[in-house]
Amino acid sequence: MVENRQPERFTLYKEHPKTCAPDDFWGQVKRTVNGAPVSDDQITMIAEAVSSGLDLRQNDLLLDLCCGNGALSRLFFEKCRGGLGVDFSEKLVEIAKVNFERLPDQVYLLDDVVEYVRTGMNPDRFTKLLCYGSFAYLEAHRAEELLQLCFERYCNASVFYIGNLPDKDQMETFFTDRTYSEGVETEADSAIGIWRTPDEFRTLAERAGWSVSFSTMPEDFYAARYRYDVVLTRGSR
Ligand SMILES: C[S@@+](CC[C@H](N)C(=O)[O-])C[C@H]1O[C@@H](n2cnc3c(N)ncnc32)[C@H](O)[C@@H]1O
Repeated sequence: MVENRQPERFTLYKEHPKTCAPDDFWGQVKRTVNGAPVSDDQITMIAEAVSSGLDLRQNDLLLDLCCGNGALSRLFFEKCRGGLGVDFSEKLVEIAKVNFERLPDQVYLLDDVVEYVRTGMNPDRFTKLLCYGSFAYLEAHRAEELLQLCFERYCNASVFYIGNLPDKDQMETFFTDRTYSEGVETEADSAIGIWRTPDEFRTLAERAGWSVSFSTMPEDFYAARYRYDVVLTRGSR
């Protein structure tokens, strides 16, 4: 449904990758520190945190929402039966298809993620869900809808890992040496997206039916000071 798509002005991840080298996979998704792609150690930290939080097993089928160029997704798809990555950036999905798609098990699809979770076929085939570094870019009402749809339609998905959320309690740390504009923390189409406190996130996810637990990355992770991760499960609260 066209009226529920992100407004076209949200073009950051649609235009930016066009300015990067074809093999600058971390630059394309803005996983950089002072303009340089993050190191392999940092990627390993992410891969370990997500695999462990998802309790990723060989038999799992993973749905990666907002998969970007697939450079991260493939690390997880390779550890299980495979999966589907969905993203609305034409350029990033093209890069994913050229470099990382392995049909029929590791597939990338161009779509808005809310639209996809609302209408995607055979949702019950997925056993784990992931949304890394991206949830904050969904407008508030669409974020809520996504959590609800995932809970209701993806009934065989036992864990939903949502990673790298900007922590509103730590905003001051982030903006110490950056320009802050009033209210930017509520704007889904800003550079970081919507900042939420862990309590705010808990309320949102519990309303959709999920049980929530939080984790933070090791101290030497580049964004550890102002981001947190969430593991959603279907267990009792
Ligand atoms: C920082 S990148 C992260 C990509 C990937 N998850 C990773 O960690 O490498 C944010 C991604 O979210 C995607 N995105 C944002 N809003 C989206 C939406 N409504 N539907 C699909 N993709 C979206 C962008 O296109 C971009 O690829």
